[in-house]
Amino acid sequence: MGIVTLKRDVAAVRESCRIVRKVLTELAQFIQPGVTTAEINALGRDILRAEGAVPSFLNYNGYPAAVCVSINREVVHGIPSADRAVKDGDIVGIDVGAYKNGYHGDAAETIMVGSVSPEARRLVEVTYEARSLGIAAAVHGNCVGDIGHAVQSCVEANGFSVVYQLVGHGIGRKLHEKPQVPNYGKAGKGMKLSNGLLLAIEPMVNAGASGVRCLQDGWTVVTDDGSLSAHAENTIMVNGNEPEILTA
Ligand code: MF3
Ligand code: CO
Repeated sequence: MGIVTLKRDVAAVRESCRIVRKVLTELAQFIQPGVTTAEINALGRDILRAEGAVPSFLNYNGYPAAVCVSINREVVHGIPSADRAVKDGDIVGIDVGAYKNGYHGDAAETIMVGSVSPEARRLVEVTYEARSLGIAAAVHGNCVGDIGHAVQSCVEANGFSVVYQLVGHGIGRKLHEKPQVPNYGKAGKGMKLSNGLLLAIEPMVNAGASGVRCLQDGWTVVTDDGSLSAHAENTIMVNGNEPEILTA
């Protein structure tokens, strides 16, 4: 479980998370129609290294890139490719992890490219709202289920569905630590949250049904029904009744 109390450890995880946000900000500015997903990955990888960080995802269980790029019906873990260019109207999930001084940071955004459909825009906006509400529930004394409940309630009230097969996670010295942080749940259930706990809260939201499957490449997760999907993630630290959003 990633629990940080020492000043030095808090400083280290803040630094990794600052780098993750820097990469996401620069990638968001870079993404436009015609840019390939391989170029997105290369830029992200280069910024991570220039900041003295190791890309958390590269070679993780064999994942072949530094940045996951997941477009439209792709939910998460899309593999960058020189043959895949971003188009006007796409929604492009970018997911970045940085490892430095013994700690990981992990965050994701979904970028709207050019003029996206009203449905796609609403999906992305609801996904960000769900992330904010999930984070707001991550207060000392609450439970993991409170986070999932907040996410799921927001998503379903807007007519979308959460993904059940993939979850957020504890984070710290390892990319994935306990506890699992589902995007569904019951208020008051699950592990109690306490100060210093590091969590990656990451709603994955489908416009259609909740089912997903993995493509032949072994990584790319897509919606079963082909509907659009959006992903937003931040790394936070539980801190009294106001979580610190480390990747803000
Ligand atoms: N943010 C994702 C996660 O927490 C990214 C992992 S990609 C992987 O699972 F390649 F590292 F698996
Ligand atoms: Co994550």
